[in-house]
Amino acid sequence: MILSPGKKVNRYRRIYKQLHNLITVTDNSIARMATIAAVLHHKMESFSWTGFYILQNEDLIVGPYQGPIACQLLEKNRGVCWSGINKQEVVIVPDVSKFKGHIACDPRSRSEIVIPVRDKKKRIIGVLDVDSNSLDNFDETDSFHLKSIASLISL
Ligand code: SME
Repeated sequence: MILSPGKKVNRYRRIYKQLHNLITVTDNSIARMATIAAVLHHKMESFSWTGFYILQNEDLIVGPYQGPIACQLLEKNRGVCWSGINKQEVVIVPDVSKFKGHIACDPRSRSEIVIPVRDKKKRIIGVLDVDSNSLDNFDETDSFHLKSIASLISL
């Protein structure tokens, strides 16, 4: 089901409020990532994979996620997640088949969005990555709200 623009904004606002209440119990970033992935994945029908890749010793390794089994380690400086890390900004890919170097953990994935995640000192610690089995599933509304949601990790 495709959400109308108004419904999508309302859905994201409700998710943000719910997450804000849930995650402030602990400042552990892995616990927060796990809760964010679970809530987003179950409330946004068009998300086929929802999770985090975490920078560790200059590698990008999988963190908490929901959805099909994903790659544990992403080849350096390749694909959409590394692009988000290197550009330090949101990357929206309307059609993954047209993104040079895209890493297909799940062949059903058609579009993707990646949001850099920062710690309290504003250093990038990883990315929030969402896949969809529909083409062109993500727009500026998703970018805006997923950025706010990702910022809850360092609240
Ligand atoms: N497609 C990503 C890899 C991670 S999966 O989507 C879960 C990329 O190109 O970096």
